[in-house]
Amino acid sequence: MSAKRPLAALILAAGRGERMNSEIPKVLHQAAGFSLLEHVVDAVRQTGIRRIAVVVGPSQEKVRSFVNGVDTVVQTKRLGTAHAVMQARKQFGRWKGGLLVLPADAPCVKPETLCRFIKTHGKSLASASILTAEVNDPKGYGRVLRRGDQVIGIREELDASPSERRIREINSGIYLFDALKLFRQLDRIKQNRKKKEYYLTDVIEAFRSSGESVEGHRVHDSKELLGVNTRRELSVAHQILNERELARHSKQGVSILDPQQTFIAKGVTIGRDTVIHPFTWIERGVSIGRKCEVGPFAKIRGGSQIGDEVVVGSFVEVVRSKVGSKTFVKHLSYLGDAQVGKKVNVGAGTITANFDGRRKNKTVVQDNVFLGCNTVLVAPVTVGKGAKTGAGAVVRARHSIPAGKTAVGIPAVILQKKRGRK
Ligand code: UD1
Ligand code: CA
Repeated sequence: MSAKRPLAALILAAGRGERMNSEIPKVLHQAAGFSLLEHVVDAVRQTGIRRIAVVVGPSQEKVRSFVNGVDTVVQTKRLGTAHAVMQARKQFGRWKGGLLVLPADAPCVKPETLCRFIKTHGKSLASASILTAEVNDPKGYGRVLRRGDQVIGIREELDASPSERRIREINSGIYLFDALKLFRQLDRIKQNRKKKEYYLTDVIEAFRSSGESVEGHRVHDSKELLGVNTRRELSVAHQILNERELARHSKQGVSILDPQQTFIAKGVTIGRDTVIHPFTWIERGVSIGRKCEVGPFAKIRGGSQIGDEVVVGSFVEVVRSKVGSKTFVKHLSYLGDAQVGKKVNVGAGTITANFDGRRKNKTVVQDNVFLGCNTVLVAPVTVGKGAKTGAGAVVRARHSIPAGKTAVGIPAVILQKKRGRK
């Protein structure tokens, strides 16, 4: 779309996702730490488009809660992709601008690619454009029928002749339409005889038969257009998205020793010269400082902030916790809802008992604390500056250890200094 023309987006998310064999709506399945739908909404937002609507299925309140801040349109009967778009007539039927239509099950498309697509479409005189790719195995996708630059139709696998099936250029399901023309043409689409659905792909032939031009733009990297219909494809999407994030961190000076065995969710920040060892799992919203050692076998969950030069070693899980610089949590620990200061040594096997069956409670461990092996900190509790615990100590809730003191035993008692001793 040229800069003058406003742009809106419509994301199709109402499909049943039968091939997933799941009770959960397909678009809520997660790849790389985010639902498929969130990935697509995020990519669209990053193009600068502000007016976004999502078509959801009936009784999919849950889907709505995943996409705060965007409009939703309900498709009561799932009668196909064209039918899904028709449900948004109220929102976009009189929209004098471009409408970017995307499937919610293609989570790998990059914002840059969408921007380029929008720009190329804007420069052309086409009434519709399609994002396409050449792939080695086009099975399952709609095939792009061309005459030169012009796309003259899209043929779904089920309806394709043997020679059409050999076409390796596939339809991504991402289109840019002149909205007014789109809704006019949608009225002409007939139900597909085999699937009893209204195919959005048929709108291309409708455009063509009205003398409108339709262009196809190929992406460089076909991986971006992967459609997730099955659990296998979900895992492929996860890998593509993860690989992209790992490459970004590597460029920024983070060593990831075994990318195949490391997961880092989109948007995590990691400082320079941190080393991530294999079998590490880092969830969304985490930040890690510089020169840290993480893993092998570490799990750092949402809302955790790790300072500089920290060690989060093997079989350590951290969630909703803050860990100060130069603190060591080297082996077999669980830190949940904890605020741990600087230069703390968390002995092997130390655990925060943060959940009392009803609520999650906070643990505070101040700077320079030394926690002996297998300490259990029953939250809410505070371990004061420079305090120590003996191996196996069970520190009771609300029985905080004052600064500089040592507590030992089960339940832990504060050691008193003997008379005459310093
Ligand atoms: C569709 C395209 C195919 C393309 C492929 C790309 C059609 C007919 N075919 O096939 O050409 O190569 O995507 O991945 O469009 N949806 C609704 N309501 C419905 C049906 C589907 O909202 O009634 C949504 C789904 O949630 C999904 C998207 O539309 O996000 C695509 O539907 P899906 O059934 O996955 O289409 P494909 O068979 O993959
Ligand atoms: Ca699909």
